[in-house]
Amino acid sequence: MEMPALAVRELRKSYGNFEAVRGLSLEVERGEIFGLIGPNGAGKTTTIKTIIGLLKPDSGEIELLGRKMPNKGVLAKVGYMPQELALYRNLTVEENLWFYSRLYGLSREEFEKRKESILRFVGLEKFRNRLVGELSGGMQRRASLACALIHEPEFLILDEPTVGVDPQLRANFWSYFRELTKEGASILITTHYMDEAVNCDRVAIMMNGKVLITAPPEQIIEETGSATLEEAVLKLTGVV
Ligand SMILES: Nc1ncnc2c1ncn2[C@@H]1O[C@H](COP(=O)(O)OP(=O)(O)OP(=O)(O)O)[C@@H](O)[C@H]1O
Ligand SMILES: [Mg+2]
Repeated sequence: MEMPALAVRELRKSYGNFEAVRGLSLEVERGEIFGLIGPNGAGKTTTIKTIIGLLKPDSGEIELLGRKMPNKGVLAKVGYMPQELALYRNLTVEENLWFYSRLYGLSREEFEKRKESILRFVGLEKFRNRLVGELSGGMQRRASLACALIHEPEFLILDEPTVGVDPQLRANFWSYFRELTKEGASILITTHYMDEAVNCDRVAIMMNGKVLITAPPEQIIEETGSATLEEAVLKLTGVV
């Protein structure tokens, strides 16, 4: 069997004496869109930050693209869009793109080659010379996604990439994510929009730092006797 793109085993992470992630395991296959779903405070962002190496796990194992993490070399193949804005507000969209390109080791030529199609895709061609701090919230999300994609990553980690993004562009984002996986990329994504989550190949529903179930959305809907994924999640997380 082919090795998964990401394997997380028995991950634990505490803040002080509060354990936010409590023995979480998951695997993301190559070419898969894998959704991490769950209520506010479930531990999704903590899990992601630990995977990427921004937080140090208390225990557990993480293998990303065949390498035990933390591993700096792997990060050049990973695109990460954080939940909070991580762009320089006093730099323009294009300057931010260039900054991230350098961070990922792209040459000026590679940057120039990729830049136009990325700006077009996120619909920021006309805003390239605007300061990020002067963009609307949704446009800042677009710029942030562009920065995560500029180096054509093999593995994409997207923490609520579509918050505040208008419906048309949300749909575009998702068809683009699907295209990327067809080209061999793998994606770990979080969202609170269940109409988006159904587009994932599989989702893990998380609560209180643990995974309750991992399966394709249709299967979760069927097994819980629900009409929609939203209803299934509410049932599983005990809200109804
Ligand atoms: N820096 C921190 N210090 C202390 N506690 C934290 C910190 N960051 C997160 N937590 C706590 O850890 C838990 C998990 O938070 P996390 O941000 O991972 O949740 P989440 O699933 O991403 O939620 P959301 O859907 O709101 O983004 C929460 O109870 C949160 O209050
Ligand atoms: Mg979060």
